[in-house]
Amino acid sequence: MPAIVIVGAQWGDEGKGKATDHLGSQVDYVVKFNGGNNAGHTVVIRQESGDVEKYALHLLPSGILTPGCTPVIGNGVVVDIDVLFQEIDGLEGRGVDTSKLKLSANAHVIADYNRTIDKVTERFLGSRKIGTTGRGIGPTYADKMNRIGIRVQDLFDEKILTQKVEGALELKSQILTKIYNRRAPSVEQTVEGLLAHAERLAPYVCDTGLLLSQALDRGDVVLMEAGQATLLDVDHGTYPFVTSSSAISAGACTGTGIPPTRIDQVIAIAKAYTTRVGEGPFPTELHDDNGEFLRKAGWEYGTTTGRPRRCGWMDTVITRYAARVNGVTDFVLTKLDTLTGLAELPVCVAYDVDGVRHDEMPVNQTDFHHAVPIYENLPGWTEDISGCRSFEELPKAAQEYVEFVEARSGAKISVVGVGPEREQAVVRHPLR
Ligand code: IMP
Repeated sequence: MPAIVIVGAQWGDEGKGKATDHLGSQVDYVVKFNGGNNAGHTVVIRQESGDVEKYALHLLPSGILTPGCTPVIGNGVVVDIDVLFQEIDGLEGRGVDTSKLKLSANAHVIADYNRTIDKVTERFLGSRKIGTTGRGIGPTYADKMNRIGIRVQDLFDEKILTQKVEGALELKSQILTKIYNRRAPSVEQTVEGLLAHAERLAPYVCDTGLLLSQALDRGDVVLMEAGQATLLDVDHGTYPFVTSSSAISAGACTGTGIPPTRIDQVIAIAKAYTTRVGEGPFPTELHDDNGEFLRKAGWEYGTTTGRPRRCGWMDTVITRYAARVNGVTDFVLTKLDTLTGLAELPVCVAYDVDGVRHDEMPVNQTDFHHAVPIYENLPGWTEDISGCRSFEELPKAAQEYVEFVEARSGAKISVVGVGPEREQAVVRHPLR
């Protein structure tokens, strides 16, 4: 078999790219199963020469950087074709071979009108805005569910494509012009834009569900990598402040065509503290010097939009919830080194909601908005831990922090990240 799923445990940006990269050469296929170019993975690789190369990926699966690995964009992804080729060209320019990439014929394509609608809707919502990345993600998923979406396979049949664009624009041009006072693109304009790269796209396109199923039959290792994270999942996240796709482990099944019975391992990535981009509730958010410390020390600025991330203490109600809804078998706790130098480390263990203690995520949105963290304070450490490679090398306080979070999160913490580079990790239990 084995099929492995990697998910984010919090609100995204937990360092999934690094974890995927950590599995590196042991993986034959890395599959992106949801989201689009709203994501941002930064992967740092030290070359044989000793030089450090940093790659920011938005749409391509991080496995694209691993020689021998086949990167796959699954049917659950929404694809901006222009961005896809910008990333391919960028990597090729740096000597990365992208020829093995496979793209699902059933993945949906982000049309120009959906980028516009995403941006104008946010402006229209004013104080009720979601804080989207403005990449057209939500409107494209809405079209998919509305059955007026454009799929990758449509780009190879101009007649069908034109009919579908006509159908979609019939309503959308009314919305753009009459509600938002914007000029709608013409059918020809949209079709032309979508067809611009069709010929170049063709060699990458296939039935990725079949490809992956056959790979599993052969005993190859297939890693399915979520975009965004548990609390941004459209069903299980902090709705409506979520993305529009399934970002939990179950999304790997619908987004790839691999059934649940074939999944062996679910790895959740959790940061040693918490961050969030965009709007929405965030109980442990810090508005003080500690928040600023985390933002600076952890370089918490969005990979996709450059926005400063909101920062807060570790929240084990969230990681426990993530363990439950994803069926987590292993946690990877990233960026423990960012906490170095803080005298005290409060960890949220429960919430107080209007005088009532909640040990689990409140099901009611209003309650979550009112949640006040109940903290337990752990001692910090001052030693530089970036060179530690075994759990025993970590200062006692850092070990206790990891053990405390593990005990409350409901699954073992197998790897602890102590720096941005691939080898800057403490492996407590090998992931494979
Ligand atoms: P959308 O995915 O662009 O529709 O944005 C919806 C919400 O998800 C916003 O709050 C975004 O900031 C957030 N979001 C989307 N992608 C990411 C990501 O990769 N990391 C963190 N937040 C994200």
